[in-house]
Amino acid sequence: MPRIAYVNGRYVAHADAFVHIEDRGYQFADGVYEVCEVARGFIVDMPRHLGRLNRSLTELSIGWPVTPGVLPIILREVVRRNHVADGLVYLQVTRGVASRDFVFPAGTKPSLVVTARKADPAAAAKRAESGIKVITVPENRWDRVDIKSVGLLPNVLAKQKAKEAGAHEAWFVDADGIVKEGGSSNAWIVTRDGVLVTRPAEHGILRGITRTTLFDVAAKLGLKIEERGFSVAEAKAAREVFISSATTIAMPIVAIDGAPVANGHPGSVTLSLRHAFFDVAEKSPA
Ligand code: PDD
Repeated sequence: MPRIAYVNGRYVAHADAFVHIEDRGYQFADGVYEVCEVARGFIVDMPRHLGRLNRSLTELSIGWPVTPGVLPIILREVVRRNHVADGLVYLQVTRGVASRDFVFPAGTKPSLVVTARKADPAAAAKRAESGIKVITVPENRWDRVDIKSVGLLPNVLAKQKAKEAGAHEAWFVDADGIVKEGGSSNAWIVTRDGVLVTRPAEHGILRGITRTTLFDVAAKLGLKIEERGFSVAEAKAAREVFISSATTIAMPIVAIDGAPVANGHPGSVTLSLRHAFFDVAEKSPA
């Protein structure tokens, strides 16, 4: 089954899906993106993702590439044409194509690319049963990581380092030893008293959509959340540790920098959040 991508108004074979060499996303990382989970034929939390896209675009003074109401139709169409029941849909908006100049070009039309791909929910469930490992790295990103920009080189390098260390995620840690977030996820702990702790969504982290929906899930399960920073040492001594993102939902962490955390096994609070997530999340038919 050939994959289909949407590129600036056209549905094209994935192998022939191109943008121009002077697209500002390619030259300056001058663009933003969103990743939505597709689960059981639904696009998960699409309105929240599109709300965050609008914020990212506004922060960078990039216009909408299409009328906002049309974007859900394009997302659904790409998911449908690729026969994705479980997986993800990716969208990227850049400032558009212009001859290379740092300042914003006048009158350039933003570029829009949408792709979708399948994922194996059974493999993800298996990963959640055993948990994954994280390493820690010093924060070296700019201070506007609240904008979901395609400028992800520090994240790429951190996650590569994690992979080389046999881990799945890297946590950025600030100068005070406080955990910020992962290379592509938010960070959480569960205290000995069963309280969920995650860093406040200020400029220092991306306000994850999964993180936001987990607040709703926690309320439904009667769990308390404290929005505050936690140190690597506190995480190492926590009852449970997990990460959240559209591609991992709530994923247990069982080791930090090679040392087992919790009892080395996924915790019950994390797994109950994971299992209740889909019932609480907003589901748009794809
Ligand atoms: N990443 N923090 C960072 C730096 C991220 O890149 C992501 C998501 C998150 C979690 O956000 P959300 O819950 O909205 O997925 C936090 C996506 C999955 C990615 O880049 O592939």
